[in-house]
Amino acid sequence: MGREPYETHPYDVLVIGAGGAGLRAAIEAAARGARTAVICKSLLGKAHTVMAEGGAAAALGNVWPEDTWAVHFRDTMRGGKLINNWRMVELFAKEAPERVLELEEWGAVFDRTPDGLISQRDFGGHRYGRLAHVGDRTGLEIIRTLQYKMISMHVDVFMECTVTHLLTDAGRIAGACGYRRDSGGWLVFPTKAVVLATGGFGKVWRYTSMSWESTGDGIGLALEAGADLIDMEMVQFHPTGMVWPPGARGILVTEGVRGDGGVLRNAEGRRFMFQYIPEFFRAETAASEEEADRWYTDKRSNRRPPELLPRDEVTRAIYREVKTGRGSPHGGVYLDIATRRPPEFITRRLPSMHHQFLELAGIDITKDAMEVYPTCHYSMGGVRVNADTAAATVPGLFAAGEIAGGLHGANRLGGNSLTDLLVFGRRAGMHAAEYVSTIRTNPNASRDQIDDAAAALLAPFSAPGDESPFDVQTGLQDVMQEHVGIFREEAGMRTALERIAALRQRLSRVRVSGTRQYNPGWHATRDLHSMLTVAEVVTRSALERKETRGGHSRTDYLKTDAALGRVNIVAAQRHGTIELAVEPIPQIPDELKRIVEEHT
Ligand code: FUM
Repeated sequence: MGREPYETHPYDVLVIGAGGAGLRAAIEAAARGARTAVICKSLLGKAHTVMAEGGAAAALGNVWPEDTWAVHFRDTMRGGKLINNWRMVELFAKEAPERVLELEEWGAVFDRTPDGLISQRDFGGHRYGRLAHVGDRTGLEIIRTLQYKMISMHVDVFMECTVTHLLTDAGRIAGACGYRRDSGGWLVFPTKAVVLATGGFGKVWRYTSMSWESTGDGIGLALEAGADLIDMEMVQFHPTGMVWPPGARGILVTEGVRGDGGVLRNAEGRRFMFQYIPEFFRAETAASEEEADRWYTDKRSNRRPPELLPRDEVTRAIYREVKTGRGSPHGGVYLDIATRRPPEFITRRLPSMHHQFLELAGIDITKDAMEVYPTCHYSMGGVRVNADTAAATVPGLFAAGEIAGGLHGANRLGGNSLTDLLVFGRRAGMHAAEYVSTIRTNPNASRDQIDDAAAALLAPFSAPGDESPFDVQTGLQDVMQEHVGIFREEAGMRTALERIAALRQRLSRVRVSGTRQYNPGWHATRDLHSMLTVAEVVTRSALERKETRGGHSRTDYLKTDAALGRVNIVAAQRHGTIELAVEPIPQIPDELKRIVEEHT
């Protein structure tokens, strides 16, 4: 076979992904003088960030002046079950208000308080109403704002392109290569730095709130380039996804419903969350319906409703209610806002939810309860980064947003992801530009690397076999849903690893037919490489962590282990094999430790 011809596009910084983190990184890198491009799998404006509905958390103190960065820091650490990277949380909590206000300057139109300040709504695990929001379409408004800002700065955008390999030169980043999804044309980007902002990997599970792009491409790229991953077992199942009709299963039902007063009931009509308040949150959670309801208007003398416990707690409770036979007809529980708030309030605060249930399920949420069940929503684990610089462990590689691990520990609080994108997207762009300015000799990827990458991408057109990529994909999603879902246990995960290995064998026999133009089978085949890698790392990390903590729940180790709480599970690829290490978490300084223990 001859050499594959390619287009060459040299830049200083290539940002992979056009969600909130990618756009914010590109804005910052370009503002600092780096020649910057963004490459994305989908169309600009269609990133998964738009699915973060409820808001962006920041201690602006607009609704509750008592709110400060320290309270936000404490809530995030406790929500993450104390294995968060404390320095990331500190930077995040301190910088969040500035990043949200900056968005407003750039044109984001947030909902307002009666005094004309940015309104802030309640979400789980947050001591005070803290989420700046635009109805229940906040992610959409953030993407719209960042996109206009970036375009006005003349950043180049390569849409509908998939990056398949990162290029390296003597261990540092030298660029990336990939292909155009419409024409199949091969692309090479010689660059000095790459920012990974590819988001999550929810498509590895059968039921997810994530869209088709979320196949964990960045995880595969980072591992192959030599970067470390941390805490990949920490996958968040958002408590409320749709369960009915089958085609809508997994679609997100925003936590804003509970933040705005919605409650969870079982098939007997009981508000069951009061039965599931864990010791860790007892002091800050209301013990009666009366107190819980008073909290919405008076947070000073009342405690938070149990429906607004952190997501991992609510997810486990729903799982147990359904398991013990108190579920709804389609295997969920009821989320009721209809009996608790007037129709006008619901349609104003939750317009998308009203529309979504009416259109997809024929349910008017101002009159009837929704049926909900947990859905795979977010990965707390990801690429290990330096807290201050967002640099991965490979020189020239940076990561921000969901692809980066550490900030959220074992469980992310709702609303913290949109702000994460802004705070660490900016930091990644800033430090990538700074890194570029220090480079004296440009890195140079060998032609062999580019040719090998092209050959690997095109191999399925001539593979010896007749496997369908879609069958392999469905097989993987079923295995992960069954054995590495909300609750896991050793035997199931060992079965999952065997099946993942068998699916890898089947992938080598996938033969793609047709041409390179608009070929979904070919795209799916490519995605399977990263999906299988993600599945293996998540499962092996989950086997390693023998406790229940945050998003990682084990039926064979139901307790949170105090000693294990002090570790991160680190994964890296060495000589083609994924190796795991258990590392103690960095010690938190005394003054921050005091903050975590105070401010209840
Ligand atoms: O429930 C939601 O609106 C999701 C928000 C988030 O994950 O931050």
